[in-house]
Amino acid sequence: MMSAIRVHDKTFEIYLSEADIQKRVKAIAEALNKDYHDKRPLFIAILNGSFIFAADLFKHLTIDTEISFIKLASYKGMKSTGNVITSIGLDVELFGKDVIIIEDIVDTGKTLYNFLPKLKDHHPASLKIVALLHKPDATKFPLTLDYVGFSIPDKFVVGYGLDYDGKGRNLKEIYQVV
Ligand code: IMP
Repeated sequence: MMSAIRVHDKTFEIYLSEADIQKRVKAIAEALNKDYHDKRPLFIAILNGSFIFAADLFKHLTIDTEISFIKLASYKGMKSTGNVITSIGLDVELFGKDVIIIEDIVDTGKTLYNFLPKLKDHHPASLKIVALLHKPDATKFPLTLDYVGFSIPDKFVVGYGLDYDGKGRNLKEIYQVV
């Protein structure tokens, strides 16, 4: 484990160790096993950033469950009202299901805030969010996060699936920009 690393033009220092992350991921999975013991939830992991978190979390689940992956693409609209978010790969039936979104990090909250109504249109029985990281000081869109790994300061992080301009996803730890 390196205490300081370079990714592109920036220096990052270690913020969460592999052991810290793994311990927390296991604790979240245990909470989910308890809360959903009598249900058959469908997890929807949002790519790309959540792929490692989703895999580790999923391995600790002992309940009857399924997982699907989607990619969100946001486009700058012609109108000043903001971005349009399109989901790629949402090919599973959500109606009547207990759906749990897996997100790597909630920053401003814009991505999930815009995407949730599209999921609600499918009338799932319930809809909850699991986020590994949350930057409460940066969050501007009202969201209820049901399971959060770590609340972190409003500083850019990489590692454990999160990237800086495409790099750093393979790091086992989470690093914060210096
Ligand atoms: P939001 O819509 O502002 O909440 O941003 C959500 C997305 O931005 C996340 O799913 C990440 O892909 C990306 N993101 C936000 N903050 C960071 C960070 O500190 N490191 C890497 N990616 C980030």
